[in-house]
Formats: sequence, structure tokens, C-alpha cells
Amino acid sequence: MELGLAKRTALVTGASRGLGRAIALQLAKQGMNVVLVARDQARMEGVQREIEAAGGVALVEAADLSQPARASEIIAATIKRFGSLYLLVNNAGATKRGDFLELSDADWTDGFALKFFGAVRMAKSAWPHVRQSKGTIINIGGVGGRVAEAEFAIGGSVNAAIGLLTKALADRGVRDGVRVLAIHPGTFETDRLTIRVDRYAKAHNVTAQEAYNSILREQGIRRFGRPEELAIFIGMLASNAVEFLQGSVIDMDGGQTRAV
Ligand SMILES: NC(=O)c1ccc[n+]([C@@H]2O[C@H](COP(=O)([O-])OP(=O)(O)OC[C@H]3O[C@@H](n4cnc5c(N)ncnc54)[C@H](OP(=O)(O)O)[C@@H]3O)[C@@H](O)[C@H]2O)c1
Repeated sequence: MELGLAKRTALVTGASRGLGRAIALQLAKQGMNVVLVARDQARMEGVQREIEAAGGVALVEAADLSQPARASEIIAATIKRFGSLYLLVNNAGATKRGDFLELSDADWTDGFALKFFGAVRMAKSAWPHVRQSKGTIINIGGVGGRVAEAEFAIGGSVNAAIGLLTKALADRGVRDGVRVLAIHPGTFETDRLTIRVDRYAKAHNVTAQEAYNSILREQGIRRFGRPEELAIFIGMLASNAVEFLQGSVIDMDGGQTRAV
């Protein structure tokens, strides 16, 4: 299916690795100009080289998104280079897991500073340009924002807030012709899963393969997600072919979340 994204501009935060990298590569494959944002310039230049080797176009903007001034600078650089912005994917995020009584004020502040306030600022700075393009903002949350877990109080709270932010912006988006959507991913095959499997294996004194299978069993799913399938889904959501999707907060988790 032709998604109609070619020659339009997408900005992906957290594009240096993991899900963001896969999203950036896929959108470039759809013919979009892609702006890559994260802190690690060298890694993003690697992604940029991959995109350019395949005939695509990418701009690297190294930034710590927990710093308030950076969002408007990144959007300004995007417009300077490409002239417009059609799709913003707020994907960057890192929150600390741990026992509630052990988590510090700084851990909470850091978690919200990057993923929540970063998304708020990027959306605010991007809004006039996305409005002009009649484009879309897609926020990446996480299923921890739908079903609570004691060890994931920060991440869960941030992801729940991302869901509500999405609904509030979509309400404004109805007026402005901007679609705002969110995806709550379940567990995907990224570096995070490797770390989680290792931690589980050590804690339960089992092999990595046994740990991997146990996590699957505990989540009640057949397999973990592949970053490419999330990336393909984002392209589909950004397409005007599904223009009636507005304010939707979608779980992509292999069936892990059994709540309505
Ligand atoms: N993977 C999963 O299974 C899963 C499940 C649920 C939700 N999610 C959500 O999906 C998103 C991506 O997950 P992932 O697994 O791909 O994570 P990841 O591999 O840890 O990548 C996180 C990305 O965010 C960037 N980032 C971190 N701190 C930053 C900062 N201060 N400023 C700018 N960029 C920063 C990182 O790049 P630099 O280090 O170069 O800055 C990296 O590109 C996250 O929001 C995560 O919460 C993932």
C-alpha cells in the first residue's frame, strides 16, 4: 500500500538505537527525509550512513532532550534544512526501575524530564509546522503505563502521562488538523531486553535462554516484538489513508495487556 509519505519530513527522537533507530530507517525507506535526535552523535551518524547508502536523506541533531532549550533549536534546524515537518515521533525515554522506597527525587525528576517534558516541548515547538503540513505526532509510551508494576513506578507513571498528553493534544488537534496518537509497546527485541534477560538469569540462577522463555511465559505471549514491525506500524499510522485515527492510544504488545 502506498502510504503517501515520500518527500515529507519526519523527526524521530531516540533515533541512535533500539526502536527509534528502526523507526528512522523505516520512514527513510518510505522516502521521508528523517531528522535523527539523541545524544550520541557517532551512533546517529551510523544510522545516517545506513539511510544515505540506501538513497535516503537524514539530518543528525545531537541533543540532550531533558534540557529545556533544545526542542525549539532542533525544530528550527529541521525547518532550516527541510522547510517543513510532517511527522514527529517522540520516542526517546529512559526511566529508572527499582523499589519505590529506594528511588530518589532525582530519579523521578530525570524520568519525567526526558520522556514526558521532552515530548511536551517537542510537540509544542513542532506544532505550528505539523499543523501547516496537516501532519501527525506519535508518542511512544509503554504498556507499563496501562498496568502497574511496583518496580516500574516511574516508567509506568511517565507512560500513563504520555497517554493522557496524547488525548489532550488530539483534542486540540481536531481543531488544528494535527493528528496525535500514542503507541504503548510491550517488550521488543532491543538492548533493553538483553539487559532484562541477563538480570533475570542472574536473579533466578538460570541460563539466558531459560530466562528469555520464562519472561515470555510470565507475559503470556508467544514472542517479543521486532523493532521493524513497530516501525512499519508507525508509517501506517502517519499515513493520511487512516486520517480518522485521532487520539488513539494503542497497545502493541503481542496480547500482553488484558485490560480494556
Ligand atoms: N524496547 C522496549 O521493549 C520498550 C517497551 C516499552 C516502551 N518502550 C519505550 O520505547 C522507547 C524506545 O525504547 P528503546 O528500547 O529503543 O530504548 P533504548 O534502546 O534505551 O533507546 C533510547 C533512546 O533514547 C535516547 N535518549 C536517552 N536519553 C536521552 C536524552 N537525555 N536526550 C536525548 N535522547 C536520549 C537514546 O540515545 P542516546 O543514548 O544516544 O541519547 C536512545 O536513542 C522508550 O521511550 C521506551 O520507554 C520500549
